[in-house]
Amino acid sequence: KIIVLDFGSQYNQLITRRIRDFGIYSELLSHKITADEVRAINPKGIIFSGGPNSVYDEDAMRVDPEIFELGIPVLGICYGMQLMAYTLDGGSVDSDNGQYGRAAIEVTDPNATLFKGTPKTQNVWMSHGDLVTQVPTGFTAVATSPDCPIAAMQDTDRNFYGIQFHAEVRNTDYGNEILHHFAFDVCGAEANWSMDDFIDLQIQHIRETVGDRKVLLGLSGGVDSSVVGVLLHKAIGDQLTSIFVDHGLLRKGEAEQVMASLEGKFGLNIIQVNAQKRFLDKLAGVSDPEKKRKIIGNEFIQVFNDEAQKLDGIDFLAQGTLYTDVIESGTDTAQTIKSHHNVGGLPEDMHFELIEPLRSLFKDEARELGEKLGMPSDLVWRQPFPGPGLGIRVIGEITEEKLEIVRDSDFILRDEIKKAGLDRDIWQYFTVLPGIRSVGVMGDGRTYDYTVGIRAVTSIDGMTADFAHIPYEVLAQISTRIVNEVKHVNRIVYDVTSKPPSTIEWE
Ligand code: XMP
Repeated sequence: KIIVLDFGSQYNQLITRRIRDFGIYSELLSHKITADEVRAINPKGIIFSGGPNSVYDEDAMRVDPEIFELGIPVLGICYGMQLMAYTLDGGSVDSDNGQYGRAAIEVTDPNATLFKGTPKTQNVWMSHGDLVTQVPTGFTAVATSPDCPIAAMQDTDRNFYGIQFHAEVRNTDYGNEILHHFAFDVCGAEANWSMDDFIDLQIQHIRETVGDRKVLLGLSGGVDSSVVGVLLHKAIGDQLTSIFVDHGLLRKGEAEQVMASLEGKFGLNIIQVNAQKRFLDKLAGVSDPEKKRKIIGNEFIQVFNDEAQKLDGIDFLAQGTLYTDVIESGTDTAQTIKSHHNVGGLPEDMHFELIEPLRSLFKDEARELGEKLGMPSDLVWRQPFPGPGLGIRVIGEITEEKLEIVRDSDFILRDEIKKAGLDRDIWQYFTVLPGIRSVGVMGDGRTYDYTVGIRAVTSIDGMTADFAHIPYEVLAQISTRIVNEVKHVNRIVYDVTSKPPSTIEWE
């Protein structure tokens, strides 16, 4: 096992994920962990994540210095490297040298352990405010770039390593090799962990937690909650009841489709709740995205509460929460980007205990899990659809008319993407209604109607994304059909931003 200590980077769980991909168990733990606690876990290695702090901040996240005395290899990434330099030597970090994005580094030491077999010059992903200006005692600098003289450092006697860039993101060309060298060559870890172990571990954990009590699952019909349903049914059988809430923010035909593909399958018994009016009433007149998200998250729980009362004796609520939902909603250490309905949107006085077996996983891992559990690939490869649904795709205030426009245009977009055979290549594709109206001319007359935005991205885990390069002919066909078939639309735009700096959904 290799542990990752959390200093608040948006990418911290990606580090554990890369390590798990090597077949080594890895988990993210609080930076407040003590050396004694680490000793008890007895990991093969420790990685310090990046983070938003400067080591000089008064309330900066620090680490128990005795962790360096345990004889366990340590890799510090970005803030983790600065913290290492600061903790070991008490200084030599400069705080006025921000650098964000791709950078070329030169590996200056042919014996640099982490860079073995990689080119002398290589591209890495930098995202930092501070940097280390002098290596701590015992270390040597092993890589450099014009803007970051000490891009990597090592102390091979004590097995301490620092890299200023993010090896865990895909934009670092040899990031995987670097982490691989740390995990196997430095830590001597063995590849003996797999998704099957994850399933066994989760089933055992669910059984221990639930005992003979009952669980309610919030099932959306998407990959994540369906996978949780199958996993829970394997673990606790009929102690599980699933609820599918139609909140009036679903896509065209979605409720029927979900019930048809899941009810009575994989041992799932699903209660469909028609709660359209409840949700839309609560959302009336609200235009702030965070408020909308919180209202939706809250209302979901109210519906679950009401249903639980009818069923009697339900103690747990299960959700298909993924790590992306957790990190973007904000944690003790990470900033809130947006409150995902199932994390940041939960009411404070919730009466359920949560069961979230996918909480440490990314989307592609959830899919792998689904396949391992024997779920059909059309279900496992369904495009992601957020819990707040079309509620966050009608920008600003939600009205029936606007929902109708998004629903109809989204239906056309999905149809054309499928016809073009692009549905498996594009990670997520949908339309949004920004609420802008503009002038057009149709049938010799003036129109003053809505603009529909098309959003389509490629991604692996939802943490970063590129806009999908849909052929112009396909875009032209989508545009023509939406304007012709959906009332009150006279203009189509295509969103050509990546994540970051944008996010996938507009709200
Ligand atoms: P963003 O927009 O943050 O989205 O780049 C990343 C992924 O998460 C989905 N998403 C959500 N999923 N509840 C969900 O279940 C939410 O509140 C939520 N917000 C965003 C989004 O569709 C994308 O796949």
